[in-house]
Amino acid sequence: MSPGGRESQQRAGRVAVLGAHIIDVLGWPVESIPPGQGSARLNEIRATVAGTAAGTGVDLAKLGADVLAIGAIGDDLLADLLIDEMRRHGIDTGGLVRKHGVQTSATILPIRPNGERPALHVPGATALLDRGDLDLAGLSGVRALLIGAPDALGGLVEDGLAEAVSAAKAGGALVAVDVLRQGTPRDFGRIAGLLGSADWFAPNSDQLAALTGEDDIFAAIDKVLALGTGGVAVTLGARGALVASRDGGAPIAVPAIAVDVVDTTGCGDGFNAGLLTALLTGASPADAAWLGVACGALVATGLGSDAGITDLEQVLGFLGAKAPGPAERLRAALASPGVPAGTSL
Ligand SMILES: Nc1ncnc2c1ncn2[C@@H]1O[C@H](COP(=O)(O)OP(=O)(O)OP(=O)(O)O)[C@@H](O)[C@H]1O
Ligand SMILES: [Mg+2]
Repeated sequence: MSPGGRESQQRAGRVAVLGAHIIDVLGWPVESIPPGQGSARLNEIRATVAGTAAGTGVDLAKLGADVLAIGAIGDDLLADLLIDEMRRHGIDTGGLVRKHGVQTSATILPIRPNGERPALHVPGATALLDRGDLDLAGLSGVRALLIGAPDALGGLVEDGLAEAVSAAKAGGALVAVDVLRQGTPRDFGRIAGLLGSADWFAPNSDQLAALTGEDDIFAAIDKVLALGTGGVAVTLGARGALVASRDGGAPIAVPAIAVDVVDTTGCGDGFNAGLLTALLTGASPADAAWLGVACGALVATGLGSDAGITDLEQVLGFLGAKAPGPAERLRAALASPGVPAGTSL
């Protein structure tokens, strides 16, 4: 590990990611699926560790966090691959539980030449994580807990997730939530209690609209904040992100950073990793969103959710070339970490 990586590891500290652990298999570029038994030649096929928890975990580890992965996987080759790859990134996989007779959650992604990504998905083991699988004592020592995809979890949402959040919060952790699917207002009702206890909710704009039933993004944000959520960071794809907080003023827009896009899979996971890393240093939410959009843009430059990001120094250099002010403030915050987890804009 680079000296920079070691330093930032101390700064970000222990971070837990709980939820969707998915193996993505991506091929690029796929013009169309050949008819019948036809075949097509591609430039690249990759298998990556992905999903709202695992994909963010890999990016957090690259940015220097000491990551604990918590989730359910199968007892198949995909699970072996997932564990090996997470360990290769220095992630503690002690919170992963193998469920027998079930496959690891997986997605096949034929990436179109323009970067669009239709998905063929098997939900698999992720939903089977249950209360008995959780080590609550282990959660009491983390600085942040990301619940990655409560919408992909099963009974844990009603039985166990609140205890996990309480255990983390009792130790002073920042709690963030992101979702996997589009969702409906009924799904919103199911996770309302969780969102109300979270410091941050970070969906994309389509998910926020579908969950809240509000097409107006500001009304949708208000609906979330009314639950008691500390802040909402909405990602808008190539249009960047919007951050709003309960105790802040008007929502702040942060533009995306233009890149040559190969594949946008996992941009949201990259965004979350940047946002959390910065928040843990005491950076303002707006500056944290800048680190998020920098990470999201870098992920879009290659195939798969683990593409683009090397380490925190590389991301800050990339951000500094496009937005020197936020990059300088983030460097200053990293040099003398303040109180983390604030939601004031
Ligand atoms: N085409 C793009 N060009 C530059 N930056 C992008 C692009 N697409 C995404 N990003 C960056 O990544 C962030 C997250 O992307 P997006 O809104 O697509 O997340 P998402 O839909 O949650 O993705 P996923 O859940 O697949 O990881 C955006 O806020 C933006 O800053
Ligand atoms: Mg997302």
